[in-house]
Amino acid sequence: MATQVTAVINQKGGAGKTTLAMNLAAGLARRAPTVVIDLDPQGSSLQWASQGSAPFPATVKQINGRWDARTLHQNYRAYRHMVLDCPPSLDSHASLQALRACDLALIPVLPSPVDLWASLRLPREIEEARKDNANLRAYMVLNQLEPKSAISAAMHDALAEFGVPVLNAAMRRRAAYRSAALEGVSVYQMGSRGAPAAAEIEAIINEVIAS
Ligand SMILES: Nc1ncnc2c1ncn2[C@@H]1O[C@H](COP(=O)(O)OP(=O)(O)OP(=O)(O)O)[C@@H](O)[C@H]1O
Ligand SMILES: [Mg+2]
Repeated sequence: MATQVTAVINQKGGAGKTTLAMNLAAGLARRAPTVVIDLDPQGSSLQWASQGSAPFPATVKQINGRWDARTLHQNYRAYRHMVLDCPPSLDSHASLQALRACDLALIPVLPSPVDLWASLRLPREIEEARKDNANLRAYMVLNQLEPKSAISAAMHDALAEFGVPVLNAAMRRRAAYRSAALEGVSVYQMGSRGAPAAAEIEAIINEVIAS
């Protein structure tokens, strides 16, 4: 079966790319062999997986420099799922290539219009990538939602202007997401501390990845 590739992408720094990529990979790894490709020279996913004593449930590899979709698929064909953790830039080879190599692009965004304005080039790049990758699906994933505050009218307008659909499933701001990175685990491995976050990641997987 072909590897299903999900790119987690946003040129805005700190939007939650690595948090979503690593927890998504841990959730997918419960279903089938999964690899994370760390495309960020900062090496955050690799660093995450090397924290703590427990092995991370998905394999994590780093790629620096140039690569192409065909070689990527060839090299990791043993995995059912691949998650690409992109760097906070659209000017790098990595992010633009990731949009050509993936089946699904997930764009974590903070619930502030100002953050979204910083990402306005992304929808254009997705359209451009569809010339080579016609079946590319793309969704935004709201991250760091506050439990009680509703999305503002300005945010609704900004999301509509962005023109990429928003997943129903979202990630709230939760200490468990931070702790998971520090402990080198995913929210799935944190017992009751991680359960509400793991349920959010499951909802994302069930909405757009799990068949
Ligand atoms: N839902 C959340 N709840 C609480 N903290 C979060 C959440 N999502 C992300 N964070 C924290 O926000 C910070 C930035 O997240 P992360 O590193 O995943 O972003 P990034 O987009 O990968 O950043 P970069 O652009 O530098 O690669 C981290 O400290 C992370 O633990
Ligand atoms: Mg990152």
